[in-house]
Amino acid sequence: MGNVYVFDHPLIQHKLTHIRDKRTGTKEFRELVEEVAALMAYEITRDMPLREVTVETPVAPARCKVLAGKKLGLVPILRAGLGMVDGILRLIPAAKVGHIGLYRDPETLEPVKYYAKMPSDIEERDLIVIDPMLATGGSAAAAIQMIKEMGGRSIKLMCLIAAPEGIRRVHGEHDDVDIYAAAVDEGLNEKSYIVPGLGDAGDRLFGTR
Ligand code: PRP
Ligand code: URA
Repeated sequence: MGNVYVFDHPLIQHKLTHIRDKRTGTKEFRELVEEVAALMAYEITRDMPLREVTVETPVAPARCKVLAGKKLGLVPILRAGLGMVDGILRLIPAAKVGHIGLYRDPETLEPVKYYAKMPSDIEERDLIVIDPMLATGGSAAAAIQMIKEMGGRSIKLMCLIAAPEGIRRVHGEHDDVDIYAAAVDEGLNEKSYIVPGLGDAGDRLFGTR
């Protein structure tokens, strides 16, 4: 069974509070989502393998460590996942980016697929699927299924806020996927919005409401 990791770092929690606040406008919301995504990526990549190299400092040779070159892929779920990409790329500029286009049908709440494009060497990459909201889990579970069908093997899911229902659904369908979140909230309301959540992540990021 996959694990759930909740990041309790004070900076992540502080920024998440401002992200949740309904008074936070689009510009600040977008900046904060990028910052939290970068901080979460910093935590997620803690176990990246290193190798030793020697560099010449102005004083003497130094045995140092660099990343061992494990390939990473980010896969934002459109639209709202896009808001997290740039923050992570600032830390890990060599990561490749795939895209999964899904939206949640407002009536059925089931994910509707409209786009998929992955890096050509997807099988060799450690993939991080990113989406700010894990609500019913329908979108994330469908995205992970699409990625697996396109050859993805090593997959993690990173979201800002997860509902217990979404965690259960993703792990019910994909027990090999670890979930990383900044918070696990109480649950879902009658429209399957996360409570207390942050509202509609895509609309708040892109100012569409
Ligand atoms: C939101 C969010 C997730 C999905 C979560 O996207 O970004 O992708 O809902 O809900 P679920 O866990 O119940 O599937 P939305 O469908 O609103 O599309 P958007 O990002 O284009 O706004
Ligand atoms: N999608 C969102 O953007 N917010 C929620 O609370 C649930 C799904």
